[in-house]
Amino acid sequence: MSHVLPAVPSSVSISGDWTPGSWQRRQALQQPQYQDAAELARATGQLASLPPLVTSWEVLALKHALAEAQEGKRFLLQGGDCAESFADCTSPIISNRLKVLLQMSLVLVHGLKRPVLRVGRFAGQYAKPRSADSETRDGVTLPSFRGDLVNGPEFTPEARRPDPQRLIQAHSHSALTMNFVRALIDGGFADLHHPEYWDLAWVEHSPLAAEYRRMVAAIGDSLRFMETLAGPIAGFSRVDFFTSHEALLLHYEEALTRQVPRHQGWFNLSTHFPWIGMRTAALDGAHVEYFRGIRNPIAVKVGPSVTPAQLLPLIDALNPEDEPGRLTLIHRMGNAQIGSALPPLLAAVKREGRRVLWVADPMHGNTESTSNGYKTRRFDNIRGELDQAFDIHAAAGTRLGGVHLELTGEDVTECMGGARDLNEADLDRAYKSMVDPRLNYEQSLELAMLIVRKSVGTTGV
Ligand code: PEP
Ligand code: CO
Repeated sequence: MSHVLPAVPSSVSISGDWTPGSWQRRQALQQPQYQDAAELARATGQLASLPPLVTSWEVLALKHALAEAQEGKRFLLQGGDCAESFADCTSPIISNRLKVLLQMSLVLVHGLKRPVLRVGRFAGQYAKPRSADSETRDGVTLPSFRGDLVNGPEFTPEARRPDPQRLIQAHSHSALTMNFVRALIDGGFADLHHPEYWDLAWVEHSPLAAEYRRMVAAIGDSLRFMETLAGPIAGFSRVDFFTSHEALLLHYEEALTRQVPRHQGWFNLSTHFPWIGMRTAALDGAHVEYFRGIRNPIAVKVGPSVTPAQLLPLIDALNPEDEPGRLTLIHRMGNAQIGSALPPLLAAVKREGRRVLWVADPMHGNTESTSNGYKTRRFDNIRGELDQAFDIHAAAGTRLGGVHLELTGEDVTECMGGARDLNEADLDRAYKSMVDPRLNYEQSLELAMLIVRKSVGTTGV
């Protein structure tokens, strides 16, 4: 959603016979079984004729900004829901999520003294990988819920049937979300002169409010001081926001993969910054085949079982020319595993001199189930993994260039611990996530403060 950064020219040479649909020749994991091929073809045909959601100019501007993050000139803040839902495409939910991300980025800008690159996990985060293809309840077996892009969460045969019409609905809901975010940003919602616009009604009594207010006041003072000397500073009255989602359902992504008049190559114009999930990152799989041919900046989730021998060929396949800004690696190891799993990967990528942006996702390796049946994460584990990530990068002589978080602006109790020390019993009060547990406002802000403390204390940023 930016027009301010110049596009980076880059060569476009895709080896082999890549097309937007060449992924269909490979094994595609985590795809639904559509029952009616003609119905699917009608939906993807309609999708292919609808306007895209982002532009190639924006996509290339983000790639340029990510190249700067690789050089340590920016810090990436990527966050949002685990799974968006069509029902949550409402004004308060979208604006509250934006408020949390803006408040976190304000804390980061203030503490890191460096521009923050804001990327939402929204406007298209509608498809989810699942550990099983089907679910059985009371002797009845139905397809698993794979996100609103595919089917409905209710446990009925009608809801769980993969429905191609949902591809069109997801495109519309993404467009509605993006339209509202763009209008808010362009209308002045993100103006640094008015951080009070980002206050969330329910957090007035937050234990972290005082520290946050002090930062807001300090930034306001410096802004007024600079503007007294230099006049109004345009860059502070708006910020840029980009979008990202896991590009899991390849029929959807293919239909939104386009050529444009002024840039060479193919762009995924459903989002600025698609990523490959941990379960679909096999070198010879359909997702890697699809991703290698698009010109977007892309990311890959890297879990604890990945070895250097697997990672290096993946980097070669996805970024053969070592293009700046092209490839982000999001490590999601778990608090217990990061200490052993991450260092060999950092060493190998450094040794080979490959250009990547390293980002920490301290959420997905720390998911557990409680005795009362909730999927949760302990804040101490999330904080612990992030804390270690900074230290491990500093020790390896590499740079942690960003974080990837699941969070919401709603008053939820999904992750345990944090400023209010939520426990198992608290999860009953406001557990709303359809899939993974998200950080609430306070837990998110606390992590932003931790990032600042760590980055001042280590050389890893
Ligand atoms: C996710 O980001 O919601 C997700 C499923 O992550 P991962 O692929 O890292 O498990
Ligand atoms: Co998730």
